[in-house]
Amino acid sequence: MSEISPERLLSIAVRVAREAAATAQRMRDEAIGDVQTKSTSTDVVTAADKAVERQAVAALTAERPGDTVLGEEFGGAAGAEPGAVRWILDPIDGTVNYLYGLPQYAVSLAAEVDGEVVAGVVRNAATGDEWTATKGGGAWRDGRRLSCSTETDLGQALIGTGFGYDARRRAHQGRVLAQMITRVRDIRRLGAASLDLCLAAEGRLDAYFEKGLNPWDHAAGGLIAAEAGMVVTGLDGAPAGPEMVLLAPPALHPVLHDLLVEVDAAGGP
Ligand code: IPD
Ligand code: CA
Ligand code: CA
Ligand code: CA
Repeated sequence: MSEISPERLLSIAVRVAREAAATAQRMRDEAIGDVQTKSTSTDVVTAADKAVERQAVAALTAERPGDTVLGEEFGGAAGAEPGAVRWILDPIDGTVNYLYGLPQYAVSLAAEVDGEVVAGVVRNAATGDEWTATKGGGAWRDGRRLSCSTETDLGQALIGTGFGYDARRRAHQGRVLAQMITRVRDIRRLGAASLDLCLAAEGRLDAYFEKGLNPWDHAAGGLIAAEAGMVVTGLDGAPAGPEMVLLAPPALHPVLHDLLVEVDAAGGP
């Protein structure tokens, strides 16, 4: 176990995330800069994504030189030594929203020790809303402890989800949603997975699922949702991961799980 407490890691994460969010918003207000594409023509990365990641990595390594960092734009440590801290960073989650000026993009930063996320913060850079959690210490926003939805009826559940950038995966997700939409209250696609998980933590979404997320998309938000009472898993007993991130209140989780299996949500590319 790391010698530093989850609470101390969270306070570092919050400070770094606030500075990073301020840079993202300043660049949004002044100039986004160069916009390039990555895996597909719709998978954009701006100069701000890179600048924010550079700044946050520099701040983390200045504060804690022995730690490693995994970030979306520049990669980094696949794992960490036993007991060491690995930071997991999405410098701007919701880059397409950022590009269009839709106020739903965030800095997501988690601290992981021995493969377990122990602290996380998600800060909406446009609005300043900020969600935090420590392992076993609850999920919080503005000094208020969060509780997830208590919905038990899938037909009354508002479900969040997302699409990756791969065209075949998007087509598959379209087929999944076509089968789902008549069996739930409605579906939301807000465009920043980390924020979706925080909205689920405070009951503004009843549940969430997405195939193809990376650790930086769900590390912090997954802890925040779990600490707010959500069950956070993959499918068929697997942990949340690239094949599926599914979160729902305890009573709803098995029902949504079985629907996702039925509609083959983890299938396709
Ligand atoms: C994306 C967003 C989106 C989700 C995608 C992610 P990015 O992250 O979280 O909501 O559906 O799967 O890749 O590229 O904006 O950091
Ligand atoms: Ca991206
Ligand atoms: Ca992301
Ligand atoms: Ca990102």
